[in-house]
Order: sequence, then structure tokens, then C-alpha cells
Amino acid sequence: MALREIASKPYPDQKAGTAGLRKKVAVFQQPHYLENFLQSIFDVDARLKGSTLVIGGDGRYHNRTAIQTAIAMAAANGVQRVVVGQGGILSTPAASHLIRLRKAGGGFVLTASHNPAGEDGDFGIKYNVAGGGQATETLTDKIYEHSRQITRYKTLEGVYVDLERRGVQTVGGMEVEVVDCVDDYAALMQTLFDFDRIRDWFKRGHSLRFDAMHAVTGPYAQRLFVDMLGAPANSLLNASPLEDFGGGHPDPNLIYAKPLVDLMYSDAAADLGAASDGDGDRNMILGRGTFISPGDSLAMLCAHLHELPGYKRGLSGVARSMPTCRAVDQVAKAMGIPCYETPTGWKFFANLLDARRITLCGEESFGTSSDHTREKDGVWAVLAWLNVLAATHLSVRELAERHWKRYGRHYYVRHDYDELSASVATQVMQSLAGSLVDLPGKHFGDYTVSAADEFSYQDPVDGSVAVNQGLRVVFGDAARLIVRLSGTGTKGATLRLYLERYESQEAALGWKTSDALAPLVGMAEKIVRTAEITGRRAPSVIT
Ligand code: G6P
Ligand code: ZN
Repeated sequence: MALREIASKPYPDQKAGTAGLRKKVAVFQQPHYLENFLQSIFDVDARLKGSTLVIGGDGRYHNRTAIQTAIAMAAANGVQRVVVGQGGILSTPAASHLIRLRKAGGGFVLTASHNPAGEDGDFGIKYNVAGGGQATETLTDKIYEHSRQITRYKTLEGVYVDLERRGVQTVGGMEVEVVDCVDDYAALMQTLFDFDRIRDWFKRGHSLRFDAMHAVTGPYAQRLFVDMLGAPANSLLNASPLEDFGGGHPDPNLIYAKPLVDLMYSDAAADLGAASDGDGDRNMILGRGTFISPGDSLAMLCAHLHELPGYKRGLSGVARSMPTCRAVDQVAKAMGIPCYETPTGWKFFANLLDARRITLCGEESFGTSSDHTREKDGVWAVLAWLNVLAATHLSVRELAERHWKRYGRHYYVRHDYDELSASVATQVMQSLAGSLVDLPGKHFGDYTVSAADEFSYQDPVDGSVAVNQGLRVVFGDAARLIVRLSGTGTKGATLRLYLERYESQEAALGWKTSDALAPLVGMAEKIVRTAEITGRRAPSVIT
């Protein structure tokens, strides 16, 4: 195996978005494209040299090829040991855990999350640093700058690692250890949750339907829910991971996980319905005929987590991304713990978790997790819900109703306008940004604007500042309208409009979400002028 330095020319588009570099497979297949990006990481982050590197992905098309490339380059760049999931598989939270467990210098997580996979689909790569969290924006910016000037990359020729064979293989002077993708993760889950109690819950005839959407969580669900917790095999749907995710769009929400939603609203519903996404970091929670919005799920877990074995010491604090509804704020207030509001993007939670300022965090985009790892964690959320249901002897609906009675209810919806031209999307943002100063004090129906601004965030741990993180129009505690551009799309621009309405009177707790939010939709059109500017009469996706 010869060490080679290969001459290369920069690509202009290797800037990471909200969660890593995501592009069409064909883009990643361009000569030296992946190599340039990886070399930029090796060159910029010196911690990888002489240390352990974790590699794994969600199993989508191009995963195995990319992993062979990454291993050959790791060997050429002085990495001491690569730990890779068998078959190239690791869910995002499991990869983050492995980085922490092995005290690795970092990890490559090969995924484009829930974006469609296959030859014509998307591919992606996220760089996670020592400690398991996603690279900070400062670091990804440096990597991007480097990628624009790159002239060569280093690789070892003739490398082929058998990704099916567990154990250690040698590549040049580097060791490659192929590990089972579930073992360490399952062991961690056993330290957090009361497995006996959940097993009993299933024994008493309670049921689960978990939709793995033909993506990475299949093997995790099989081991944890079925093998370890005794759920019947028919609890799992679409549990075999496929390179093209079965042609689907593995995003656990009301649109893309519709078959599960329909099931949970039918006579065949289970006690708990749940789904996860492509790389296993998202989750959706449903009860019989009941959808628990991600913001509600975060608030409800916040209220109950201290009852579960891994969290007996209580929560140090919680955090949510800015567009996530403020349900968890109510619980935090009642518990007397701090509640942080961060920009969209899981990476913003990392410092708060590392500094032990928070134990639990979540986002409206179907992400929830705790300090056990540095990524959001879909299977963890399902286990947490199973444990809460088993411990409280309540159904999902009963739990939700009790919660709303105590803390009030946040009705919430997100409207996405997909594939807009960049100029139209920018126009919506600029027009709203321009009108923000005039909004405070203005009345819209029963609502009065209390504040309107562009959200910026100063990290309380390292003092770094993130500006331009979305526009918000606040009506006191009663409601909010938020607008921002997505940082994860791969086609055109996606505009997101988030609507939130809070009600605490008992008579107002059982409304249909769409009815509750109808007045806000009207207000949003007046304030944001989405239809007027985009020419779209309705959003492309409502979740
Ligand atoms: C990914 C990130 C999340 C983020 C979500 C939506 O899943 O991990 O942190 O909330 O994308 O981001 P977007 O920028 O598309 O709204
Ligand atoms: Zn994901």
C-alpha cells in the first residue's frame, strides 16, 4: 500500500449547512469531491492525527464507497485507529456515543438525514469532534475556507476493508476495528431506562408500533424493543434498512410517516406509535388518535424525566431552539430550572450540555435528546416515552391532557415553502425584516405585538455569537410567528413559517390544532405576506 499525494483543485461549494455537507450523490461522485472535503478536515483539525476516528453512516447509497475512501485517507493522514460500524452502519446518536466512549479525536457521520437516498438521492457527511458533538460553525467555516484553496489530498493506495468482518484489520500502520453497530448504544440505554418496567408494560399487553422507515434504526429497534424488551415482532414496521430507504422520504412527521399516522388514528392503533428518520436522530410520538408535537414531547419528557433511572438526580436545565414552541419553558419555570433558547441546529446545544447547564434539549424539527450523547436521539426518545408510560400507568392521551391542564397548551404548526428561488425567499425575509421596527404595539385581532426582532444568540459558555437566526414576531406569552430560511435543503430555498398559540383556560385545551391556529394563519399572511410575495397559495408541507 503506497502513500500518495494526489493533486486536486478546489470545489467552491463545500460549505456545511445546518447539519454537515449535503449534496446530491452525483455531486459527491465528482472526481476528488469527497477527498477534498475530508482532506480539509484532516488539515484543519490537528486532533485527528494519532488518535481514534469513528466512522459510520445511515446505510444509504454511496455509504460503503465513501467509507473505503475515508479509511484510506485516515491511514494516510496519521490516524491511529478507525472504529467503524459493521456494514458501515452507525446511527447518528450511536456514532456520537462511540466517539465519547472511545475518547476519539472525532468522527465522520455519513448521512443526509431524512433526505431521500439512492443513486438520484442525496448524500452527506457530518464532522463530529472529540466529545461527540457536531463541529462548531467556527470550525466548519475554517474547513470551508481550506477547501477553497486545497491543492492536494493524501491517501493510501489499494485499501479495502471488509466491513462485514468484526474485529481488527490493519491498513498500513493503522488499525481498523469493525464493531457491532448496536452493542455499545444498547448498553448505554440500559443505564438510562428501567428495562424491567418496560418489559412488564409489554407483558401486560401494551403495544408499540415503531416505523423505522427502511432506514438506520431497524437494527436498533429490533435489538432494543423486540430482543431486549420483549415487544412482539409485529411492533416494528419497515425495519430492514435499504440503500434507497425503499424509495421513501424517511422523515418522521405527519406527512412523510403518514402510514403510521393513519394506523394510529385507526382501530388498529397501538398504545404508542413512533417513527425515526434516515440516520436515527429524529423521532415522532403518537398515542391512539393523538399526535404529540415535538415541542409538547419535549415539555412532557421534561416534566417526567426525573422519574427515570438515569435522571434521578433531576435536570440541571433545558434548552429548545428558538422556533420550537415555548411549552417546555412553562415546565422549566415550574421546576425552577433554567431554560435556554438557541438558534436552530443541534450543534448549539453542545456547549450547554458539555458545561452541564442542561440535561435535556429539543427542537420542533422532531429532535429530542439528553446529555447521554451529543446528538438528538430518536430511539432514546421512544424508550423515554415507553418508560414514562410504564411508570405513570397513563396512556399517551391521558398524559398529554394532564400536562396541558397543569401547564397550558401550545398549539403549534410549521408551514414550509419548498424549492423557492433564492431571490423570492430572500425577498420575503427582507420585507419582513424591514417592517419589524414598526410592529411592536400593533394589534392584529385579539393579539398585540410585544416584540419583533431578528434572533441572535450569544453562547453563554464560550461567548460566541450567531446572528441572523430567523425573524420573530412575539405577542407576549399568547402567540408567536417565526420565519426563517432552512439550512438543510439541497434544492432551491425553503422558507419556514412557524405558528404558535398558547391557551391555559380549560375550555381551550381540546381544540383541533388547525382550528386553533386558523386566526394566526390569517395574521401571518398580513405580516409576512408569503402568498403575496411567493405567489404560492398554500405551503408545500404542513407539519
Ligand atoms: C437538522 C438539524 C436540526 C435542525 C433541522 C432543521 O435535522 O440537525 O438541528 O433543526 O435540521 O433545520 P432547517 O435549517 O432545515 O430548519
Ligand atoms: Zn436525521
